[in-house]
Amino acid sequence: MMNDKELVAFEAAKLAKNGMLIGLGTGSTANYFIEHLAKRQAKEGLKIITVASSTISAIKAQACGLNLVSINQVKQINLYVDGADEITPNLTLLKGRGQDLVMEKLLAQAADQFIVVADKSKLVNFIGEKFIIPIEVMPNAWRIVKSHLEKNGAEGDIRLNTHQDNIAVTASGNYVLDMRFPRNMDDESLNILLNNISGVVEHGVFYKLADKILIADQGIVSSM
Ligand code: 5RP
Repeated sequence: MMNDKELVAFEAAKLAKNGMLIGLGTGSTANYFIEHLAKRQAKEGLKIITVASSTISAIKAQACGLNLVSINQVKQINLYVDGADEITPNLTLLKGRGQDLVMEKLLAQAADQFIVVADKSKLVNFIGEKFIIPIEVMPNAWRIVKSHLEKNGAEGDIRLNTHQDNIAVTASGNYVLDMRFPRNMDDESLNILLNNISGVVEHGVFYKLADKILIADQGIVSSM
């Protein structure tokens, strides 16, 4: 029997059609999507090309037998399917725990359709309810950006690596600030603030980007 993450990914894989260029997200739910897409390709002879949002997803896609192109070869994609860390009632997302949020946002913006797949645990009332907000910054700008964010009421610090013995570096060679913001700052204001600070490469707030959210809850998939 499929768990909720797999079930929702299985439903999303049904959206793939012959000839599509499909963006692959990153994370455990996105991994299930990659597996089910590959199964459709093998069983039905579905003809698709994929582009991955991270090295780890590219490795997974290759291992599953999917055809991959590099992100620098694409201008636009038909479909992008990815998970999320938080989803608000107005479809704003928090993403980027896996660090490749620049690639994830690029694909989300380049997609005709961006479908988010998640289990019910990801539903929140406001961005930042459960997770800190990841902000990818140019390495030599991190102190200035952090100070700017603190003046706007944020608290947090630079992300360390898994062993906590060095600064974490993203696939694009940048650092990440993990920040909490005052509760009264809404998604739109947060997005505007983060979009307008020099030195911020990208951030984990995906505002007005998702076209549809598929949510699985105890074996039942519904959409928002
Ligand atoms: C990675 C992401 C993931 O989509 C998010 O962390 C959800 O992961 P999972 O499907 O494993 O719960 O944004 O950067």
